[in-house]
Amino acid sequence: MTSNGGIKKLGILCSGGDSPGMNCAIRSLVRTAIGDGIEVYGIRRGYSGLLEGAIEKMNESSVGNILHYGGTILQTSRCPEFHEAEIRKEAFNILKRKKIDALAVIGGNGSFNGAHALHTEHGIPIAALPGTIDNDITGTNYTIGFDTAVQTAVDAVDKIRDTASSHARTFIVEVMGRSSAAIALHVGVCTGAENVVVPSDNIPFDQIASDIKRGIKRGKNSSIIICAEGKVPGLSYKIQENLKDNHDIDAHVCILGHIQRGGNPSALDRFIASRMGYVAIKELLAGNQAFVTAFVEGEVTPAPLKDCLAKRNEYLPHTVDLVRALSI
Ligand code: F6P
Repeated sequence: MTSNGGIKKLGILCSGGDSPGMNCAIRSLVRTAIGDGIEVYGIRRGYSGLLEGAIEKMNESSVGNILHYGGTILQTSRCPEFHEAEIRKEAFNILKRKKIDALAVIGGNGSFNGAHALHTEHGIPIAALPGTIDNDITGTNYTIGFDTAVQTAVDAVDKIRDTASSHARTFIVEVMGRSSAAIALHVGVCTGAENVVVPSDNIPFDQIASDIKRGIKRGKNSSIIICAEGKVPGLSYKIQENLKDNHDIDAHVCILGHIQRGGNPSALDRFIASRMGYVAIKELLAGNQAFVTAFVEGEVTPAPLKDCLAKRNEYLPHTVDLVRALSI
């Protein structure tokens, strides 16, 4: 191992759902690495593109004028085949042929698990940068794209509130996040929602109905319920049906969907992504072999990749209580 961690050629890929700020991370990785004398290769379409050999050399200008754009210039994909050891071996051989000796992976849990397996099986150094709107990775308090996604959803709910109050209606607004409640909880607090439904086996239908009725009783003419999508989008329709059948409440459903994944990254996402890219290169150069650029106590700091593979389930306890307390 040389003093710069032995790294001469770095591959960069994005994997899983895109998130606003991924471009800032790519820009930071590319420019920091080149500044430190490392050649950089962009891998298109995540692990799928890696398997197809879609690998191109990048330079400082490849990442010019991308900082403020959502999405990812490298594109991304979900690649279920990467669960197979044989497929990962193929991927490693492609990297070896290209003499790429370290990989930066920007993505969420699934992407990190793939990267971790690649590292343990083939020894390639991995810098994993948390990039998902869901903010649900163990070991880091923040993932690139979360702030922008929350702001996008808040803007949408504010608009829905206008029409809801004009028509004296109840809306159930479903936000992304899969089994993570992070987006829903933040949006609930920031939009003054009447209640937030988090992924759970026991949906508190009666509670939701009584919160809506409580509001009406004290003169509110509209209600907003924020619903986290859970494993499968569409939970809102179940709530709508229950409110109608059991509580005689008519509610409209609005599923925000992929609008939450796009848009210009917020200043916070740009800042944290830029910092993560920089720390990633410095850690690789210091010889760190498999780490996540975690955001902990207000700073980007390396955390062992093996400790950041699980989904973070516990998120801001008591926030549903906060939402309900503030909406009386
Ligand atoms: O993980 C990010 C995310 O946007 C989730 O919030 C959402 O459930 C999922 O991706 C949607 O995935 P796809 O774009 O593949 O349908």
